Amino acid sequence: MSDSTQPTLDNLLSEERTFPPSAEFAARSNAHAEIYSWAASDRLSFWAEQARAMLDWSTPFTQVLDWSDAPVARWFADGRLNACENAVDRHVAAGRGDRVALLFEGEPGDTREITYADLQREVSKAANALQTLGVGTGDRVAIYLPMIPEAVVAMLACARIGAVHSVVFGGFSAEALRSRIDDAEASLVITADGGYRRGNPSALKPAVDEALAPGDEHDACRTVQHVLVVRRTGQAVDWVEGRDVWWHEAVGAASDQHTPVQVEAEHPLFILYTSGTTGKPKGIFHTTGGYLTQAAYTHLNVFDLKPETDVYWCTADIGWITGHSYVTYGPLVNGATQVIYEGTPDTPHQGRWWDIVQKYRVSILYTAPTAIRTFMKWGEQIPAGYDLSSLRVLGSVGEPINPEAWMWYRRVIGGDRAPIVDTWWQTETGAIMISPLPGITATKPGSAQAPLPGISAEVVDEMAEPVPNGSGGYLVLTEPWPSMLRGIWGDPQRFRDTYWSRFPGLYFAGDGAKKDADGDIWLLGRVDDVMNVSGHRLSTTEIESALVSHPMVAEAAVVGAADQTTGQAVVAFVILRAEFRDRIDEVGEGGDVAAELRAHVTKEIGPIAKPRTILVVPELPKTRSGKIMRRLLRDVAEHRTVGDVTTLADSSVMGQIAAGLGSS
Ligand code: WTA
Repeated sequence: MSDSTQPTLDNLLSEERTFPPSAEFAARSNAHAEIYSWAASDRLSFWAEQARAMLDWSTPFTQVLDWSDAPVARWFADGRLNACENAVDRHVAAGRGDRVALLFEGEPGDTREITYADLQREVSKAANALQTLGVGTGDRVAIYLPMIPEAVVAMLACARIGAVHSVVFGGFSAEALRSRIDDAEASLVITADGGYRRGNPSALKPAVDEALAPGDEHDACRTVQHVLVVRRTGQAVDWVEGRDVWWHEAVGAASDQHTPVQVEAEHPLFILYTSGTTGKPKGIFHTTGGYLTQAAYTHLNVFDLKPETDVYWCTADIGWITGHSYVTYGPLVNGATQVIYEGTPDTPHQGRWWDIVQKYRVSILYTAPTAIRTFMKWGEQIPAGYDLSSLRVLGSVGEPINPEAWMWYRRVIGGDRAPIVDTWWQTETGAIMISPLPGITATKPGSAQAPLPGISAEVVDEMAEPVPNGSGGYLVLTEPWPSMLRGIWGDPQRFRDTYWSRFPGLYFAGDGAKKDADGDIWLLGRVDDVMNVSGHRLSTTEIESALVSHPMVAEAAVVGAADQTTGQAVVAFVILRAEFRDRIDEVGEGGDVAAELRAHVTKEIGPIAKPRTILVVPELPKTRSGKIMRRLLRDVAEHRTVGDVTTLADSSVMGQIAAGLGSS
């Protein structure tokens, strides 16, 4: 853990305002107050009941939780089911085939309406095509696609045949894609020629070609047999004969009849890579029965979903966990009708999202604080130009939502009527853990408030003792939960070390938190070397490694500095190698060196990791044991007076940095 990042309480408001649900909302709520005491009285029967209520099992389970191999949990382990069948086929079988599953809005304005019956035909064809391409149960498939219906179909088709998908966000670079394909030893990559972004086609296939290009240091080209390519933009693509296959040809020619493969509840459903405190991304893997149970249960209750009447829209990309649990699995298992939008919020104009809400009569909106703060910046006259009266529940996820943004969201978007659910969870937790329930909880701006029924969370001090109300500490989860990660792909030891060693027997989430006077939980951000930029997790170490892999850079330290819109922004401090020191004049903002290093990070990781600011410095502040003191760098990056420097090996370093900054 970083030396520098104790949770601080000084930035907290003490919040007096609360917003109980209206009587009308409460009366129609899916969940009732007794759900908390029911779950608390018998947690395991509660989850067993949810697993039976939410899912169809081809073999019913008799065991609920096996924790004998802790921290690797086994939930509902003797049951069998298929995730795709639960998300698609059973709705058709129950006579709901005509219900719209996906309302797709492409960035250029093209639209598609896909019913559950359509989806069943599509996933069946895709599943047949994957099997024809040699993909079997347990094989890994990398998915690198824009936000188009085929992305959801591809995930479900994998699940249908028991293959394990590993979705890689389309904004990641070829390099990032390659390392993820390698780590999972994927045998198939599903991609597209491109997608639309800010009004233009943006190519994807070249990154796949680059990732798979033969080379000695990696074996991606060894494991990958085929690349299945969706035609989205029609742009020209390079083609590797024998390897590359068009989706519309392979899937188009396949039969629309397919029997889902029944798997054990603990069969892996997917791997999703996320940033940790070291340079190498972690392949978080989730299994089938427990994951689906909690994704569906939370989606139904946290958003108070009425599948017959609601139109749900989660703005996350499928490249993130939110897109897995709250675009693909939770909503479809619940038989919801949902909007999928391909593009950016300001294409072709800054009212695009509100236009979509108005057009489809969206009733539940789930998005990130960074988006809300961006809309605040653009001005409330923009949403005011649209009819948002259909909205009845608003969700927030990915980072702490500051009370100002919360209040704006409630007033301007929610018409002072729609409850806001601030949902805390992680890639590792698989589904929402801490959140209000909109028909029960009196919500409080800025606080995620309480663990959901069935979930056990605490805020503890250094000694793992729960802190009293009014105090801060570390957020931990004290009991296993159904959608918990089952490990880090291929690295069981790292799983134990990362999450279970800081407080033995407790899952340490990496977040600081506080309990207020009412016992409500406030999330205070990461206490490790993970940054949160626009709700995306980035590792300081990973960006540092990318920077030092550039020939000009001798050393680099990266910090997340507070940013009004993106929550945090990447600020990099770099020391140039001696032979490049004469280029120091070019390092100012916009200078060639900064531009070159930014481009390098983009190539190594992707544009989301690109530093906002690059500062060239003569030295980095280090402790006597050689640890970089990021706290001091953060002071510099946030223009604060530099804090206590007494533990520095060389106390003059901060002076040198300040002097150096003055000159660049
Ligand atoms: C942060 C995203 C405050 C937190 C679902 C966590 C939040 C990390 C919230 C996980 C929230 C997520 N309030 N912080 N409501 N939701 N976080 O894996 O630091 O991309 O550890 O999962 O995001 O990010 P991840």
